[in-house]
Amino acid sequence: MDPEIRDYLDTDLPGVVSLWQECFPEVRHAAAFREMIARKQATQTGPFLVAESDGNVVGTVVVGMDGLNAWIYLVGVDPAFRRAGLGSRLVHAVEDRLKQLGVPYVCLQVMEGREHLLDFYTTLGYRVDPRVSMVKMISRNGSNHPRFREAPDPSIEEAVD
Ligand SMILES: CC(C)(COP(=O)(O)OP(=O)(O)OC[C@H]1O[C@@H](n2cnc3c(N)ncnc32)[C@H](O)[C@@H]1OP(=O)(O)O)[C@@H](O)C(=O)NCCC(=O)NCCS
Repeated sequence: MDPEIRDYLDTDLPGVVSLWQECFPEVRHAAAFREMIARKQATQTGPFLVAESDGNVVGTVVVGMDGLNAWIYLVGVDPAFRRAGLGSRLVHAVEDRLKQLGVPYVCLQVMEGREHLLDFYTTLGYRVDPRVSMVKMISRNGSNHPRFREAPDPSIEEAVD
């Protein structure tokens, strides 16, 4: 049976963290994922969807809203469920929610080293935006992403692993 797509529940926490450790090994630390979820729940009302199969979390998509656009993060599918349309279903499901909220644009970033996934997103109707994204690290809180390890700023406190 096709996995069911539904809103995240607190009881999904261990399953989501375990899936993200599989899907996003560059972040690795369960604590960083738990922190992301806590911050999402504390500050964001945008959708956080999971796909469930036989009681297991096998897919996720998280949305961050900035009042104008919506940003899609953490699109992840259990390797055993890939290439069967689940990733596409998750993105479509979240787009449907965002349309209902009147959000005009959905944005996302494809991580360095995952350029092969441009096909996944172009198939879903996304285009490469000619604008250049810039980023500045102002605190290490909650981030273990490698891009923040490359050029450590001595004024920024180390993360607690
Ligand atoms: C990206 C991801 C969510 C795709 O999930 P999925 O369920 O396999 O996606 P779908 O089955 O809906 O794929 C739809 C189409 O996208 C394209 N596609 C999907 N994965 C692809 C890949 N690894 N390489 C190239 N094209 C891909 C294909 O055209 C595919 O159609 P096809 O299977 O008929 O060829 C999944 O591979 C994943 O979790 N990856 C690890 C986490 C990650 O990198 N997330 C994205 C962060 S930007």
